[in-house]
Amino acid sequence: MKKDLRLFLSQIVSKPHQVVALAPSSAALCQEMVAGLDPSKGPVIELGPGTGNITRAILGRGIPPHMLHSVEMNLSFCTHMRKYFVGVNVHHMSACDLDRLGLKNVQAVISGLPLLSMPIGVQRNILKGSFNSLATEGSFVQFTYGPNPSVHADLLKKMALSWTRSDKIWLNLPPARVYRFTRHVH
Ligand SMILES: C[S@@+](CC[C@H](N)C(=O)[O-])C[C@H]1O[C@@H](n2cnc3c(N)ncnc32)[C@H](O)[C@@H]1O
Repeated sequence: MKKDLRLFLSQIVSKPHQVVALAPSSAALCQEMVAGLDPSKGPVIELGPGTGNITRAILGRGIPPHMLHSVEMNLSFCTHMRKYFVGVNVHHMSACDLDRLGLKNVQAVISGLPLLSMPIGVQRNILKGSFNSLATEGSFVQFTYGPNPSVHADLLKKMALSWTRSDKIWLNLPPARVYRFTRHVH
């Protein structure tokens, strides 16, 4: 755990624009992020695992490691993930390129990305790749520290996304909310 924190803090300093966080997600936030995951419902994609706090919670829901695909652009975090989460599919790439993985019928995309700080074009690529991979009933799960959904309002409209929001999770630094985005299918 100390090693996790040391690596996380070193990456905040060396790559602040990628990490964009004060600390790894708390246990309370991780539990809310993974609520409802079910090993019988298909694979799971995780975006931006960092040192793996949310990964641990996903596996804790009974998702077998081979059914989890963790996408991380930071090589130091990937090396850490491969060492401590044996069997999880760790992909060293940008979340913008999800279509490259060709995954289908995914039950949920669990995102630890700093989506709010990303330009709308980057958000669009990430959401398109995510919803191309998700099953019809699947959801894109994202935490945010701000008062509003972190997906740009134009994208919510164009992609016909609706969302639900958790209560504020005070036991996190800073306090956060979890949004679950789903797509209307006409
Ligand atoms: C706020 S940290 C979250 C870490 C961890 N999931 C947690 O909640 O403690 C953001 C993570 O997203 C990763 N990241 C940022 N942009 C990314 C991108 N375009 N593709 C993949 N990973 C990215 C960072 O390297 C970092 O690991």
